[in-house]
Amino acid sequence: MNTPFSVAIDGPSGAGKSTLARRAAARFGFLYVDTGAIYRCVGLSCLRRGIDTKDAPRVEALLPELQIHLAYREGEQRMFLGEEDVSSEIRQPEVSIAASDVSALPAVRAYLLEMQRSLARENSVIMDGRDIGTVVLPDASLKVFLTASAEARAARRLLELEQKGVKTSFEEVLRDIEYRDQQDSSRAASPLRQAEDAVLLDTSEIGLEESVDALCALIAARMEQIK
Ligand code: DC
Repeated sequence: MNTPFSVAIDGPSGAGKSTLARRAAARFGFLYVDTGAIYRCVGLSCLRRGIDTKDAPRVEALLPELQIHLAYREGEQRMFLGEEDVSSEIRQPEVSIAASDVSALPAVRAYLLEMQRSLARENSVIMDGRDIGTVVLPDASLKVFLTASAEARAARRLLELEQKGVKTSFEEVLRDIEYRDQQDSSRAASPLRQAEDAVLLDTSEIGLEESVDALCALIAARMEQIK
């Protein structure tokens, strides 16, 4: 088997990472891995058990009990806690905040690292998150840092949530995004930052199709280069 090709996509919340990564993965026949969904499972587990998501010792003690699994059904990534499919529930706004909180804890990051790496060892992947190019896949074939203004990201996230039937407002979504930007970038453990060898793609001013094409062009060029 050829060495798997890996694309690391990092960037702040709502920059369109999952949409773009999913579309590009379908175009190239790669596996799309949404790593934020894994952190969300930890956040959801804490909320369900009434564990303060900032209480490091209690969150850490919970980790060995968690049975987080990732599976692909009809090409879509689904998240399971034990037997239960929690893929929809982890999209709730309170879970976003809980996920951001627990993702600041080094024990949580260390615990989830191998799960993420093993997927990229076995498959050609497009993996999105906050530290994929810097920590999870430092040798990724291609690294992209995807960003957009906070307002543009909030507007897009609102639409996405509305389509999923989640009730919220622009102000609430913007507040959540700003909270998470601040927390994800300022934490000590693997903060969100652009890897030195990552290509910057800013989608504030460009539409979805153009962004997908830009990402696919980067991937195609890199595949050609290392062929
Ligand atoms: O991408 P997302 O919004 O679903 O991610 C949820 C939270 O998890 C986000 O606040 C940051 C965190 N996260 C992370 O720290 N590292 C990753 N690789 C992915 C997500």
